[in-house]
Amino acid sequence: MESSPSTPAERRSLNAHLYHVSKTPDDLRHLILDISRAAKYISYAIQTTEAGLAGTTNQFGEDQVKLDVLSDRIIEDHLRESRLVASFACEERPEVVDLDPKAPYSVAFDPLDGSSLVDVNFAIGSIFGIYKGKSVLGRKPKEQVAALYVLYGPRTILVYSTGKGVHEFLLNDVGEFILLREYLGVADDAKNFSPGNLRGVDETKGYRDVVETSLTAKLTLRYSGCLVADVHHIFSKGQGLFTFPGSAKYPTGKLRLAFECGPFAYLAEQAGAAASDGNGHILDLTIESVDQRCPLIIGSRNDVKKVCGMLNA
Ligand code: F6P
Ligand code: MN
Repeated sequence: MESSPSTPAERRSLNAHLYHVSKTPDDLRHLILDISRAAKYISYAIQTTEAGLAGTTNQFGEDQVKLDVLSDRIIEDHLRESRLVASFACEERPEVVDLDPKAPYSVAFDPLDGSSLVDVNFAIGSIFGIYKGKSVLGRKPKEQVAALYVLYGPRTILVYSTGKGVHEFLLNDVGEFILLREYLGVADDAKNFSPGNLRGVDETKGYRDVVETSLTAKLTLRYSGCLVADVHHIFSKGQGLFTFPGSAKYPTGKLRLAFECGPFAYLAEQAGAAASDGNGHILDLTIESVDQRCPLIIGSRNDVKKVCGMLNA
């Protein structure tokens, strides 16, 4: 890794990494830094906010915990303040929210992924996909210019890509994201398996076969119920498979294209992994609406291919 005179390689900040290593355009670098600042407030809020229900539901009829509402507001405030965002789409609102029509970027985000796990103190996360242009609607995830997620676990980490590899940062005690590992890669064969929506084994063609094959292959089970944590496991361990196919209750799965499947598909490709909806690349799907859902098969390439074959057999 190239080092600069002012920033020693052993203490590479997110800002320095975006500038020196990813050579990210200045406005996009500033936007990512603004998002990372929002994540620090969320990280702090998780430690200090009561974990009860807010008493409201989101557009999908799910209970919003106070932290959902708070995280959403924190992110909106930071995007607004950045002056770099034309509009955003997020899990908590049914329509795209317009900010500044002259601004260069649009953002899709899930403010608090896995928020039903707040009360049990499991890891949760935030997910972001960034596009050039006025709106994320009508766009394909392959058009993203950056994607990132923040995982609030025992430690808070941030993982980003601007199209030049996938890089991981740790939030340190003085509130700065410092490089942990760069160029995360995913091997072609999985040893770990994270099977979501097991309700679908009797309803989705081939899913029982997928699960039985993983038992025969003695894959290690790793499923927490938080997409960010479960997919980060794959990037961190350098192999693995996560599946969330459709079922009777969720015919196209539960996960949303704009701010869950799309950003992770972009990061997966950058890490040498694959992401499919069972039929084709997630990256090639078109975001028609904020609430659009799609199945997700993501991780080690050979396993993604095998699973898609079985689901379609
Ligand atoms: O945002 C949806 C989500 O909470 C994801 O984080 C997670 O992968 C999925 O739902 C878990 O679904 P289930 O509770 O059905 O396993
Ligand atoms: Mn989510």
